[in-house]
Amino acid sequence: MKQVSRYHPLLVTLHWALAFLIIAALTLGFFGFAATPNSDPQKIDILRAHMAGGMLILALMAIRFIVRMMTSKPAVATTGFPLLDRIAPFSHYGFYVLVLLMAGTGYTTAILAGLPAIVFGGSGDPLTPTFVIYPTRVAHGYIATLLVGFIVLHVLAAFYHQFVRKDRLFRRMFFGRRVSNPVTPAE
Ligand code: HEM
Repeated sequence: MKQVSRYHPLLVTLHWALAFLIIAALTLGFFGFAATPNSDPQKIDILRAHMAGGMLILALMAIRFIVRMMTSKPAVATTGFPLLDRIAPFSHYGFYVLVLLMAGTGYTTAILAGLPAIVFGGSGDPLTPTFVIYPTRVAHGYIATLLVGFIVLHVLAAFYHQFVRKDRLFRRMFFGRRVSNPVTPAE
Protein backbone atom coordinates (compact mmCIF):
# COMPACT_ATOMS: atom_id res chain seq x y z
CA MET A 1 0.00 0.00 0.00
CA LYS A 2 1.29 3.50 -0.86
CA GLN A 3 2.59 5.80 1.87
CA VAL A 4 0.79 9.06 2.63
CA SER A 5 1.51 12.19 4.67
CA ARG A 6 -1.45 11.76 7.08
CA TYR A 7 -3.82 9.12 8.35
CA HIS A 8 -7.22 8.83 6.63
CA PRO A 9 -9.70 11.53 7.86
CA LEU A 10 -12.08 8.82 9.11
CA LEU A 11 -9.25 7.29 11.15
CA VAL A 12 -8.34 10.74 12.51
CA THR A 13 -11.99 11.32 13.52
CA LEU A 14 -12.18 7.91 15.20
CA HIS A 15 -8.86 8.43 16.99
CA TRP A 16 -9.91 11.68 18.67
CA ALA A 17 -13.51 10.56 19.31
CA LEU A 18 -12.20 7.39 20.97
CA ALA A 19 -9.63 9.33 23.00
CA PHE A 20 -12.47 11.48 24.35
CA LEU A 21 -14.86 8.55 24.98
CA ILE A 22 -12.24 6.32 26.67
CA ILE A 23 -11.08 9.09 29.00
CA ALA A 24 -14.75 9.89 29.79
CA ALA A 25 -15.46 6.19 30.55
CA LEU A 26 -12.40 5.99 32.81
CA THR A 27 -13.30 9.22 34.62
CA LEU A 28 -16.92 8.17 35.13
CA GLY A 29 -15.74 4.70 36.16
CA PHE A 30 -13.13 5.76 38.71
CA PHE A 31 -14.77 8.91 40.11
CA GLY A 32 -18.52 8.63 39.33
CA PHE A 33 -18.86 5.09 40.71
CA ALA A 34 -16.62 5.70 43.74
CA ALA A 35 -18.85 8.59 44.80
CA THR A 36 -22.14 6.74 44.25
CA PRO A 37 -23.15 3.67 46.32
CA ASN A 38 -25.46 1.12 44.69
CA SER A 39 -28.26 2.24 47.05
CA ASP A 40 -28.26 5.73 45.47
CA PRO A 41 -31.10 6.02 42.88
CA GLN A 42 -28.76 8.04 40.62
CA LYS A 43 -26.48 4.99 40.26
CA ILE A 44 -28.70 3.50 37.53
CA ASP A 45 -28.33 6.66 35.40
CA ILE A 46 -24.54 6.58 35.77
CA LEU A 47 -24.46 2.87 34.91
CA ARG A 48 -26.64 3.50 31.84
CA ALA A 49 -24.27 6.19 30.52
CA HIS A 50 -21.19 4.09 31.34
CA MET A 51 -22.48 0.83 29.84
CA ALA A 52 -23.81 2.48 26.65
CA GLY A 53 -20.56 4.47 26.31
CA GLY A 54 -18.47 1.32 26.84
CA MET A 55 -20.31 -0.61 24.14
CA LEU A 56 -20.02 2.38 21.78
CA ILE A 57 -16.25 2.43 22.41
CA LEU A 58 -16.03 -1.26 21.50
CA ALA A 59 -18.01 -0.74 18.27
CA LEU A 60 -15.92 2.29 17.24
CA MET A 61 -12.69 0.42 18.05
CA ALA A 62 -13.76 -2.41 15.72
CA ILE A 63 -14.52 0.10 12.93
CA ARG A 64 -11.20 1.84 13.63
CA PHE A 65 -9.34 -1.45 13.28
CA ILE A 66 -10.94 -2.14 9.88
CA VAL A 67 -10.33 1.42 8.63
CA ARG A 68 -6.69 1.17 9.77
CA MET A 69 -6.22 -2.08 7.83
CA MET A 70 -7.86 -0.74 4.66
CA THR A 71 -6.34 2.75 4.33
CA SER A 72 -2.86 4.03 3.48
CA LYS A 73 -0.70 5.11 6.40
CA PRO A 74 2.29 7.43 6.89
CA ALA A 75 5.76 5.89 7.23
CA VAL A 76 6.67 4.45 10.64
CA ALA A 77 7.91 7.27 12.89
CA THR A 78 11.24 6.35 14.44
CA THR A 79 12.16 7.31 18.01
CA GLY A 80 15.89 7.05 17.31
CA PHE A 81 16.05 4.02 19.65
CA PRO A 82 15.65 0.63 17.88
CA LEU A 83 14.31 -1.08 21.02
CA LEU A 84 11.58 1.57 21.51
CA ASP A 85 10.70 1.33 17.81
CA ARG A 86 10.18 -2.40 18.23
CA ILE A 87 7.92 -1.91 21.29
CA ALA A 88 5.70 0.78 19.70
CA PRO A 89 3.49 -1.57 17.59
CA PHE A 90 2.80 -3.75 20.65
CA SER A 91 1.62 -0.75 22.64
CA HIS A 92 -0.66 0.31 19.77
CA TYR A 93 -2.19 -3.16 19.39
CA GLY A 94 -2.32 -3.31 23.20
CA PHE A 95 -5.03 -0.64 23.14
CA TYR A 96 -7.29 -2.88 21.05
CA VAL A 97 -6.70 -5.82 23.42
CA LEU A 98 -7.31 -3.74 26.56
CA VAL A 99 -10.51 -2.17 25.20
CA LEU A 100 -11.74 -5.64 24.20
CA LEU A 101 -10.99 -6.91 27.73
CA MET A 102 -12.67 -3.86 29.32
CA ALA A 103 -15.84 -4.38 27.30
CA GLY A 104 -15.75 -8.16 27.91
CA THR A 105 -15.33 -7.91 31.70
CA GLY A 106 -17.80 -4.98 31.95
CA TYR A 107 -20.42 -6.79 29.89
CA THR A 108 -19.99 -10.05 31.82
CA THR A 109 -20.31 -8.19 35.14
CA ALA A 110 -23.48 -6.54 33.85
CA ILE A 111 -24.97 -9.92 32.87
CA LEU A 112 -23.99 -11.54 36.21
CA ALA A 113 -25.59 -8.65 38.14
CA GLY A 114 -28.76 -8.65 35.99
CA LEU A 115 -28.05 -5.07 34.89
CA PRO A 116 -29.57 -5.10 31.37
CA ALA A 117 -33.11 -5.51 32.81
CA ILE A 118 -32.53 -3.00 35.65
CA VAL A 119 -30.60 -0.35 33.71
CA PHE A 120 -32.17 -0.52 30.25
CA GLY A 121 -35.39 -2.49 30.87
CA GLY A 122 -36.61 -0.42 33.85
CA SER A 123 -37.46 -3.61 35.81
CA GLY A 124 -37.37 -1.70 39.12
CA ASP A 125 -35.37 -4.50 40.81
CA PRO A 126 -32.78 -3.23 43.33
CA LEU A 127 -29.07 -3.33 42.48
CA THR A 128 -26.91 -5.85 44.34
CA PRO A 129 -25.18 -3.95 47.23
CA THR A 130 -21.76 -4.18 45.49
CA PHE A 131 -20.39 -5.50 42.21
CA VAL A 132 -16.95 -6.47 43.58
CA ILE A 133 -18.36 -9.91 44.49
CA TYR A 134 -17.90 -10.69 40.77
CA PRO A 135 -14.32 -11.55 39.70
CA THR A 136 -15.01 -9.90 36.33
CA ARG A 137 -15.71 -6.59 38.16
CA VAL A 138 -12.38 -6.88 40.01
CA ALA A 139 -10.60 -7.64 36.70
CA HIS A 140 -12.40 -4.66 35.09
CA GLY A 141 -10.80 -2.36 37.69
CA TYR A 142 -7.27 -3.78 37.23
CA ILE A 143 -7.48 -3.64 33.44
CA ALA A 144 -8.76 -0.04 33.67
CA THR A 145 -5.65 0.86 35.70
CA LEU A 146 -3.45 -0.80 33.07
CA LEU A 147 -5.29 1.15 30.37
CA VAL A 148 -4.53 4.41 32.22
CA GLY A 149 -0.82 3.39 32.19
CA PHE A 150 -0.96 2.74 28.43
CA ILE A 151 -2.61 6.12 27.83
CA VAL A 152 0.04 7.96 29.90
CA LEU A 153 2.84 6.23 27.95
CA HIS A 154 1.09 6.92 24.64
CA VAL A 155 0.76 10.65 25.43
CA LEU A 156 4.38 10.87 26.64
CA ALA A 157 5.59 9.13 23.45
CA ALA A 158 3.56 11.49 21.24
CA PHE A 159 4.97 14.54 23.08
CA TYR A 160 8.48 13.13 22.79
CA HIS A 161 8.07 12.86 19.00
CA GLN A 162 6.48 16.29 18.70
CA PHE A 163 8.69 18.34 21.00
CA VAL A 164 11.99 16.44 21.40
CA ARG A 165 12.43 14.86 17.98
CA LYS A 166 10.39 17.65 16.37
CA ASP A 167 9.09 15.25 13.70
CA ARG A 168 5.61 16.89 13.66
CA LEU A 169 3.88 13.64 14.57
CA PHE A 170 0.63 15.41 15.53
CA ARG A 171 0.12 16.57 11.92
CA ARG A 172 -0.23 12.95 10.85
CA MET A 173 -3.14 12.42 13.22
CA PHE A 174 -4.97 15.54 12.12
CA PHE A 175 -7.03 16.82 9.20
CA GLY A 176 -5.44 18.53 6.21
CA ARG A 177 -4.06 17.92 2.74
CA ARG A 178 -3.10 14.27 2.39
CA VAL A 179 -0.40 13.66 -0.23
CA SER A 180 0.97 10.36 -1.53
CA ASN A 181 4.64 9.42 -1.26
CA PRO A 182 5.69 12.55 0.72
CA VAL A 183 9.35 13.60 0.48
CA THR A 184 9.77 13.39 4.26
CA PRO A 185 7.52 11.26 6.46
CA ALA A 186 6.08 14.30 8.25
CA GLU A 187 5.53 16.47 5.15
C1 HEM B 1 -13.42 0.91 27.24
C2 HEM B 1 -14.54 0.73 27.91
C3 HEM B 1 -14.68 0.87 29.41
C4 HEM B 1 -13.91 1.57 30.31
C5 HEM B 1 -12.67 2.42 30.02
C6 HEM B 1 -14.46 1.34 31.63
C7 HEM B 1 -13.95 1.85 32.82
C8 HEM B 1 -14.42 1.53 34.09
C9 HEM B 1 -13.81 1.95 35.33
C10 HEM B 1 -12.55 2.81 35.43
C11 HEM B 1 -14.54 1.44 36.36
C12 HEM B 1 -14.24 1.59 37.86
C13 HEM B 1 -13.10 0.66 38.21
C14 HEM B 1 -12.70 0.72 39.66
O1 HEM B 1 -13.06 1.66 40.38
O2 HEM B 1 -12.01 -0.23 40.10
C15 HEM B 1 -15.66 0.70 35.77
C16 HEM B 1 -16.65 0.05 36.48
C17 HEM B 1 -17.71 -0.64 35.91
N1 HEM B 1 -17.95 -0.78 34.55
FE1 HEM B 1 -16.78 -0.14 33.05
N2 HEM B 1 -15.55 0.51 31.49
C18 HEM B 1 -15.73 0.21 30.16
C19 HEM B 1 -16.72 -0.57 29.60
C20 HEM B 1 -17.78 -1.13 30.30
C21 HEM B 1 -18.88 -1.87 29.69
C22 HEM B 1 -19.01 -2.15 28.20
C23 HEM B 1 -19.71 -2.23 30.71
C24 HEM B 1 -20.99 -3.00 30.65
C25 HEM B 1 -21.72 -3.21 29.56
C26 HEM B 1 -19.14 -1.73 31.95
C27 HEM B 1 -19.68 -1.91 33.20
C28 HEM B 1 -19.11 -1.53 34.40
C29 HEM B 1 -19.65 -1.85 35.70
C30 HEM B 1 -20.92 -2.66 35.99
C31 HEM B 1 -18.77 -1.31 36.65
C32 HEM B 1 -18.87 -1.40 38.18
C33 HEM B 1 -19.47 -0.17 38.82
C34 HEM B 1 -19.33 -0.24 40.33
O3 HEM B 1 -18.62 -1.08 40.87
O4 HEM B 1 -19.99 0.57 40.97
N3 HEM B 1 -17.96 -1.06 31.65
N4 HEM B 1 -15.55 0.78 34.39
